[in-house]
Amino acid sequence: IQGATDITLRVNGQAHTVRVEPRVTLLDALRERLDLTGTKKGCDHGQCGACTVHVGGRRTLSCLTLAVMAQGKEITTIEGLSQGEQLHPMQQAFLKHDGFQCGYCTPGQIMSGVACVQEGHASTDAQAREWMSGNLCRCGAYPNILAAVREVAQRG
Ligand code: FES
Ligand code: FES
Repeated sequence: IQGATDITLRVNGQAHTVRVEPRVTLLDALRERLDLTGTKKGCDHGQCGACTVHVGGRRTLSCLTLAVMAQGKEITTIEGLSQGEQLHPMQQAFLKHDGFQCGYCTPGQIMSGVACVQEGHASTDAQAREWMSGNLCRCGAYPNILAAVREVAQRG
């Protein structure tokens, strides 16, 4: 590939070396180079939240992040949340509350939900709604998504 360089990405605790052009987004590197297709491409323009991952512990829109900029940071995707067969509490809460319909927005919602709770931004319904507002759901599963996030937040 012209102008491509080798970069090392640490994803879900594992280091991967991939050859990418400087303009390749983290989203495309994850999906197309590392086959981590749990992270979804909705708008590809920073407007829907479907591509949300954690970079260095912070939620990040991977469609707006260049893969080269994510080097040296710990990246977590939806595939890295569960411990083997044991689902993450946020994944369990989404199942319990039917926090999805088509499921397309769900990985991004869950990654945002985990961060929202960690940030302490889910202590009331209104606060959680506001801090989750970057994650759109075309199916309108918002009340159930909110219930899932709030349950995890309340468990502390
Ligand atoms: Fe990144 Fe929509 S795909 S915000
Ligand atoms: Fe379909 Fe959210 S569950 S877009």
